[in-house]
Amino acid sequence: MELKRILLPTDYSETSREALRYAAGMAEKFRAELVVLNVVNEQLFTEGLNIPLAISMETLEEDMQQEATKQMERFLSSGEVDDSVSTRRVILQGKPWEVITRWAGENQVDLIVIGTHGRSGIEHFLFGSTAEKVIRSAPCPVLTVRPPAAGE
Ligand SMILES: Nc1ncnc2c1ncn2[C@@H]1O[C@H](COP(=O)(O)OP(=O)(O)OP(=O)(O)O)[C@@H](O)[C@H]1O
Ligand SMILES: [Mg+2]
Repeated sequence: MELKRILLPTDYSETSREALRYAAGMAEKFRAELVVLNVVNEQLFTEGLNIPLAISMETLEEDMQQEATKQMERFLSSGEVDDSVSTRRVILQGKPWEVITRWAGENQVDLIVIGTHGRSGIEHFLFGSTAEKVIRSAPCPVLTVRPPAAGE
């Protein structure tokens, strides 16, 4: 077995931060590349936004790009990832589970490490919908990580 590339999809939730600890630890031990992927939900870009006329679509997309990059840096700046780990940041638009699965298939990902839950935090389901669909459709093994215990 070889682990050369580990994919950590994140919505920046606490559970995905817990998953990052495992993904980063395994990347370090196996000298694998760590790919941190955030998918910006496409609906954000097309629906439900009340855009003031003064702001052009171009400015808005630029702002969102910048904000997305900032969030990614914030997520990675809390010391979970050792400096020795080669880390790649990827931000894409689309349906999270589809983008995660497709990216893994097209980029020789050996392992996906994913939180059982995400931002919506409804924990009475065994898995959140993104995690469930990724587990069902992934082209490689998936390691699931539960939310950190309360108070930790
Ligand atoms: N937009 C996203 N981009 C990348 N990874 C994501 C995204 N959304 C979720 N994930 C990954 O999937 C894990 C589980 O999140 P999921 O969305 O399935 O649960 P939830 O938000 O609690 O429930 P739901 O979205 O079904 O209401 C997260 O911990 C994260 O690792
Ligand atoms: Mg979710």
